[in-house]
Amino acid sequence: MQLKPFLLDAWLDQYEHHIDFDLAASTGPKWTVNDILALADDETRHRFLHHKLVYSRPAGADSLREAIAEMQEVPVDSVQVVTGASEALVALMWLAAEPGANVIIPLPGFTTFSALPESLGLETRFYRVSRENGFRIDPDEIKRLADSNTKLILVNSPHNPTGATISNSEMEALHDFTAARGIQLVSDEVYHPIYHGKSTKSAARLPHATVIADLSKAFSIPGVRTGWMIEHDPQRRQQYWNARAYFSISNTTTGEILSEIAIRKRDVVLGKAQETATRNLKLLERFMAEHRDILGWIPPQGGMTAFPWLIAGEIAGERFSGENARPFCQAATEHGILLAPGDCFDVPSHFRLGFAASAENFPKALDRFATFVKTWSRKMVTV
Ligand SMILES: Cc1ncc(COP(=O)(O)O)c(C=O)c1O
Repeated sequence: MQLKPFLLDAWLDQYEHHIDFDLAASTGPKWTVNDILALADDETRHRFLHHKLVYSRPAGADSLREAIAEMQEVPVDSVQVVTGASEALVALMWLAAEPGANVIIPLPGFTTFSALPESLGLETRFYRVSRENGFRIDPDEIKRLADSNTKLILVNSPHNPTGATISNSEMEALHDFTAARGIQLVSDEVYHPIYHGKSTKSAARLPHATVIADLSKAFSIPGVRTGWMIEHDPQRRQQYWNARAYFSISNTTTGEILSEIAIRKRDVVLGKAQETATRNLKLLERFMAEHRDILGWIPPQGGMTAFPWLIAGEIAGERFSGENARPFCQAATEHGILLAPGDCFDVPSHFRLGFAASAENFPKALDRFATFVKTWSRKMVTV
């Protein structure tokens, strides 16, 4: 069994820990344990400091599941806690991996979406999320890809890396289509509810959909490694419970308590992420307008990442193809700027730019990026 190289994480791990400005990260403003504990009442802080470091329950601590259920407006029984949305993806693909089966996933998309099923021998069928279509999905394309061997259709909204969203009616139509054919519809909502355009509802309201979510992106506390699944089908829930009892047994007790605090105080935690993302996106809009001769983009409708591309054509009489953004990203690191090359998402002409993780440092990061872009375009002239 082979797992293809995780190009994105290899790139991030090479630079992220010592770069001046991290514009590759997909998360938002950072929190310390102290910040999160300061949101709690005395009793909860006491519970945190004195809790026993035992195994938690495979389905997740009761009080954490209750907090998630209340936020998602679903019964507590529908909540399965997992170690990040990553573990949810492992469980889902593992359970889908039957001989001859296929799964339908977005391109570009978070690499795990394709790496896991490929390694398990599942056929992967890709629907395009392309700039020609404003990064919007084409529901008919998804439907055309499905057949009697399709086990699972995965959608991601807001989408990493493009920031595109799927409307409520598109999601409902996909739900009805999959439910009628016994195909599992998986909605990855790790960036919900961070929106810049029209906000959309969680698919947790749809009886046959499976939702995966986490505290890594919209909440921006990935260090707690908390994810969850919302599943209304008791048989599937039993399978997830069983899978996770094998994979990781339970989450960390420490992370579960911090997660519960963050979810109960989500007005503060999500509020900070949304405010930071909104403010920085405005600055990014101005930046992109000023550099429209070199960089193209479609503004994100949600989440904390954009997926710009290098404009092909001529700069001061010189031709360059713009087909591969990796040399551009590589050169940016030498100026202290970290971007994520599009080939990490199988679309080499683009790069991912995270606009919320550097928080209040973002204006300085853009200044440095502007200096680099100027240097780059001058270099292009002389090539
Ligand atoms: C779309 C998407 N889904 C799932 C994940 C997994 O995140 P985590 O395991 O931190 O919850 C990521 C992480 O980058 C992601 O971008």
